[in-house]
Amino acid sequence: MRTNYSGLIDSSYLGQTVTLYGWVHRRRDHGGVIFIDLRDREGLVQVVIDPDTPDTFATADRVRSEFVLKIEGKVRERPAGTTNANLKSGQIEVLAKDIEILNASLTPPFQMDDDNLSETIRLEYRYLDLRRPQMQNNLKLRYRVAMAVRRYLDAQGFIDIETPMLTKSTPEGARDYLVPSRVHHGQFFALPQSPQLFKQLLMMSGFDRYYQITKCFRDEDLRADRQPEFTQIDIETSFLGVAEITALMEEMIRTLFRDVLSVELPDPFPRITFQEAMSKYGSDKPDLRVPLVLTELTDALKDVEFKVFRDVANSAGGRIAALSVPGGGQLSRKEIDEYTQFVAIYGAKGLAYIKVNEKAKGRDGLQSPIVKNLSEDALSTILERTGAADGDLIFFGADKAKIVNDALGALRARIGHDRGLAVKEWKPLWVVDFPMFEYNDDEKRWDALHHPFTSPMDGHEDFLDSDPGQALAKAYDMVLNGWEIGGGSVRIHRQDVQSKVFGALGISAEDAKLKFGFLLDALQFGAPPHGGLAFGLDRIVTMMAGAESIRDVIAFPKTQRAQDLMVQAPGPVDEKQLRELHIKVR
Ligand code: AMO
Ligand code: AMP
Repeated sequence: MRTNYSGLIDSSYLGQTVTLYGWVHRRRDHGGVIFIDLRDREGLVQVVIDPDTPDTFATADRVRSEFVLKIEGKVRERPAGTTNANLKSGQIEVLAKDIEILNASLTPPFQMDDDNLSETIRLEYRYLDLRRPQMQNNLKLRYRVAMAVRRYLDAQGFIDIETPMLTKSTPEGARDYLVPSRVHHGQFFALPQSPQLFKQLLMMSGFDRYYQITKCFRDEDLRADRQPEFTQIDIETSFLGVAEITALMEEMIRTLFRDVLSVELPDPFPRITFQEAMSKYGSDKPDLRVPLVLTELTDALKDVEFKVFRDVANSAGGRIAALSVPGGGQLSRKEIDEYTQFVAIYGAKGLAYIKVNEKAKGRDGLQSPIVKNLSEDALSTILERTGAADGDLIFFGADKAKIVNDALGALRARIGHDRGLAVKEWKPLWVVDFPMFEYNDDEKRWDALHHPFTSPMDGHEDFLDSDPGQALAKAYDMVLNGWEIGGGSVRIHRQDVQSKVFGALGISAEDAKLKFGFLLDALQFGAPPHGGLAFGLDRIVTMMAGAESIRDVIAFPKTQRAQDLMVQAPGPVDEKQLRELHIKVR
């Protein structure tokens, strides 16, 4: 039996005999003395093998990296000058009495203390990658987060109810993963993009407070913060409005940070409207660690000579905004070109700028490819509104509002971090008062900004027919350091309003009945007012771990190309299986 985890032995065990089980992290031969760093899930301990125990020494001589050992030995103080302040066990070492090799290992494809591994090799040998202390810590952190969430929700009277994985398409806006039915020829289940409809139905069943930590599946383009299968902390309550739900959820996140990281988050979280977020930050998930804000200029540049600005200022749906960068005057031509390429990713056709060298000299104190085409009036408005000082640089975006927001919003965050302007703090906030719908220019129709079950604000029901673009929703997103970590809404609990929303989305009555008939029916049997939200557990843990990607906090994630490199999935299947499923590969 193990008496201790290696990583937890410290000076309080001095003189004790311990039995340890673990892996050889490193083995060093120091001319006659062998050192083994033995690793288990709690960390490392240094084991010393003296030649005056010849059998043990001979065994130690044979071990290599990642061999599995049982070691019995005595805890003693490390000699002066050899202590390691970075390890919990850094003051002590274990003098081995007996070593048993429980299993050998092939030479591993990488060392467990290498921090510069390619992700491909890590994912291919994920079981080894997960041995690395960093990954062990990430997954332990993830567990502590999930436990803190469960404790909080349990104390608040929420109960965990499972919902199906084999179900019907749920409209979260991504593509579905489909599962063919063997029993029903030509028919398919969809894996849930979220438990959205089931949790609403549970409210209609009277459960009042539901939660679940559950997998969701979305076949969408992947990024650092997205996986095709990810985990939501999914929550729904009855009889509460936006103020109560957001207060309850905010307290959960504060509790989580307090319990797990000993961090005190602000109380309350700042709250801004969607419109303010877009206007000031160009984003509905602003990174508030970056102190920069956008300046509105559309109204002030309608008559300027510079055609790009004039055309945009006079077109419907156009926006001209500026981003003033303190000290940005030092940016080189090359850096400005790089930022111009960066905003092009978001569709920006250029990135005009003005370097403010010496304001007192007026136009002559400004250095820019565009000032010659801007009037005195326009220039003084720009300088006044941006508040730019000597030595600053002002960037401009002019295009359809969406492009300007995406481009300058991303540039704001990027430059803020590049130039060290971001504060080193946790910056949570709520974004509220989202529009119900956004116009889909390609398809020429309105799409739900959250999902079609989100309630309009009181008094906005009439906009659903008359002017969908005006309708605001009882929806809210929680944002942390530039990531959307959760989102939800108060739902529609009346069948007539739900039908109107389907109407505004161009979903016909027949289609609505086909897809969501069960919901429309359930709404007519005494559905309580209800609402909730879902957090992205992977994202929260990624931020808390200080990791780069959510893949680093998921035991067995998919690559950016939605593959599992270890088990080699997806993969081909037998012709027989396909035939059973009535499927022919085209
Ligand atoms: P939403 O679609 O906003 O809402 O998802 C909720 C939260 O889940 C996380 N998330 C993801 N995390 C990793 N990879 C993904 N592909 C991914 N997609 C989403 C985000 C997001 O904030 N049913 C609604 C919630 C509700 O209304 O109650 C929903 O799913 O952190
Ligand atoms: P041009 O007149 O096209 O040479 O552009 C002059 C400056 O305006 C260059 O710095 C371009 O990067 C910039 N520019 C061009 N189009 C836009 C735009 N839509 N938004 C912001 N800047 C632009």
